Amino acid sequence: MINYSSLISIGAIALLSIIWVELVRDCYHFISHLWQPLYRLHSWHHRVFKPDLSVANETIYRQANWYNDLPESVVMLLFSFLFGGVVNYYELIIPQYQWLAWIGSLYTLTFSFGAIARGIGVPYADEITDVTHRQGDFTTLPANWFVNRPYHWRHHFDNQNAYFCGTLTIVDRIMGTALSLKGKKIAITGASGTLGKALMEKLYLKGAKITALTSSEQELFIRKNQQQIPIKTIRWEAGKESELADLFEKIDILIINHGINVHEQKTATAIEKSYEINTFSGWRLMELFLTTVRTNADKVTKEIWVNTSEAEVNPAFSPLYELSKRTIGELVTLKRVDAPCVIRKLILGPFKSNLNPIGIMSADWVAQQIVNLAVRDFRDIIVTINPITYLAFPVKELANSLYFKLFTK
Ligand SMILES: NC(=O)c1ccc[n+]([C@@H]2O[C@H](COP(=O)([O-])OP(=O)(O)OC[C@H]3O[C@@H](n4cnc5c(N)ncnc54)[C@H](OP(=O)(O)O)[C@@H]3O)[C@@H](O)[C@H]2O)c1
Repeated sequence: MINYSSLISIGAIALLSIIWVELVRDCYHFISHLWQPLYRLHSWHHRVFKPDLSVANETIYRQANWYNDLPESVVMLLFSFLFGGVVNYYELIIPQYQWLAWIGSLYTLTFSFGAIARGIGVPYADEITDVTHRQGDFTTLPANWFVNRPYHWRHHFDNQNAYFCGTLTIVDRIMGTALSLKGKKIAITGASGTLGKALMEKLYLKGAKITALTSSEQELFIRKNQQQIPIKTIRWEAGKESELADLFEKIDILIINHGINVHEQKTATAIEKSYEINTFSGWRLMELFLTTVRTNADKVTKEIWVNTSEAEVNPAFSPLYELSKRTIGELVTLKRVDAPCVIRKLILGPFKSNLNPIGIMSADWVAQQIVNLAVRDFRDIIVTINPITYLAFPVKELANSLYFKLFTK
């Protein structure tokens, strides 16, 4: 009779043998983009598809399967032998189940046969075996942990040097290639503020094209190697969101970052100002931007990032700040239940700025962490020194989004 712990280790080995070959696939793909001899083979794959994922040329499609897909699966197969060999040599599971270490090899063979079938031109082989390249409207967003069509489309038509993964997104997440910022047109509100400036610099260094949205009269620059680089600046203030409609058509990522803190005030004016600036102007910008998401390309390249604050789950010792930030936070959760593009939340702890002169972290460090987590496709970007936020926020977000999913249409 097999006991529970043996059962778990048998299952884990079988699962690991599959994860192992998937990691090999992604590393092979990554190296194919770095090393010219392999890229010569891999480039066939990049010549196959048009942006609607229709095949540009049937002959090239077949060749790509012989030159790219088949060699890739052969490399996976060879490394699956290594995994099976190690498990069997060290007798990592009970002898009668050691064959399960070869599950990864069997799994890989399905890809080899798929590539051969497509290479020969077997009818419907592409539809059955090449699921990330099928045509049609994107009905889901780029997935977070598993590669789907919208995720993979970006490898072909957003940035070929990102989105390398084939099934699991782990390798992209580790390497910071799960979101490409290169060439992305990014507009950011609160641009003249402390975090706004720091974030613009970090995004610029990642290759983004920045548009500063500001209510101030300042000329805005990005500092790079002691130089000041002027950036496209558009004057804007809360209440005038509709004036940005034309701009948003051309923007890939909108970062809603502006905010105020009225501290201990509770007058009618303070209430109105807090909600108007921290909540409603952000919500209006979000709604306006979402109307610009129409095509397949928009659905996978456009994004909104909303800087809500860890005040969503922790005291900020400023009631109106908390109330207004929690409300925009909840509205984001409500909207992203079925939003047409990715909406990320920035959940930040106290950093030193005009709004919070006694903040502990530096805006520069916070901005760097935001970018580091965004390129790893974190949808909720938590940067704080408060450990409670890392526990409380995901629980609250999950509960709220389930509730909103159940009780909205
Ligand atoms: N500092 C913290 O500890 C902390 C913690 C968590 C979250 N946050 C959030 O991070 C964001 C950036 O804040 P920060 O700390 O960098 O503060 P900040 O230096 O004061 O920047 C906030 C910016 O918001 C913009 N703004 C203010 N009133 C506006 C209005 N009526 N219309 C349009 N824009 C307006 C201003 O930029 P323009 O003049 O360029 O428009 C202002 O510089 C805020 O949303 C804040 O709530 C801060």
